[in-house]
Amino acid sequence: MLQVEDLEVSYQSVAAVRGLSLSVPQGQIVGLVGANGAGKTSTLNAITGLVQRRGRTLLGGQDISQCKTADIVRRGLVQVAQGRQLFPDMSVAENLEMGGFLQSPASKREMTEKVFAQFPVLKERATQPAGTLSGGEQQMLAVARALMARPKVLLIDEPCLGLSPKMVSRLGEVIRQVNADGISILLVEQNTAFVFGLTSYAYVIENGRVVLEGTPDLLRRNDKVRSAYLGI
Ligand SMILES: Nc1ncnc2c1ncn2[C@@H]1O[C@H](COP(=O)(O)OP(=O)(O)OP(=O)(O)O)[C@@H](O)[C@H]1O
Ligand SMILES: [Mg+2]
Repeated sequence: MLQVEDLEVSYQSVAAVRGLSLSVPQGQIVGLVGANGAGKTSTLNAITGLVQRRGRTLLGGQDISQCKTADIVRRGLVQVAQGRQLFPDMSVAENLEMGGFLQSPASKREMTEKVFAQFPVLKERATQPAGTLSGGEQQMLAVARALMARPKVLLIDEPCLGLSPKMVSRLGEVIRQVNADGISILLVEQNTAFVFGLTSYAYVIENGRVVLEGTPDLLRRNDKVRSAYLGI
């Protein structure tokens, strides 16, 4: 569904992503883990055209390497940004409206009903400014806003950041539900245990390169993964 080949990102002359390749098969949840500064967000920003990049990106077999972000969103590849990036002074409903900005009014109405059914707490708080929601509710809203664009593939960047263990587990359920609706997911996290619990395959990156990849079962048995990423 999503294929990334030889991705390169540099800021000024400093390389942040170096020859990274990965793929997300249709209907799967794939993980991307790595420490602070490993290049996870840069990878996602490059895939969605938010930063200058080299390499090839294919979505459903179509080359989107040269496409602008709005076109990439229109084609069904949508990112949930690290730190949620909501519009804090706008209401929950208005944030959702922004997520559906490329949709027709009818499609937007249909999607709003759907996400309100999926996230009842957002319906209860529809008129409340997004900035007044709890961290967990804000993360739900960030996912819901991305769903408004009717994605085929979601890229989710560090959704667990700052959430309580209870919210993290609720978020895991949400991600599973979204995936069960047929949406393929690339999940980026420093919370490696969370990623391994949800994914069918994962990549470990260091200094902008993939250093390990495999099924969670295989990676869990790797000594380096155990000490550096799982703390066992
Ligand atoms: N806009 C930028 N300008 C210059 N350097 C940047 C920029 N964005 C990121 N970098 C650098 O690129 C490298 C990768 O950063 P990136 O944000 O992709 O890492 P990350 O894996 O997402 O980290 P984190 O877990 O902290 O979110 C880091 O060394 C960072 O300092
Ligand atoms: Mg990041």
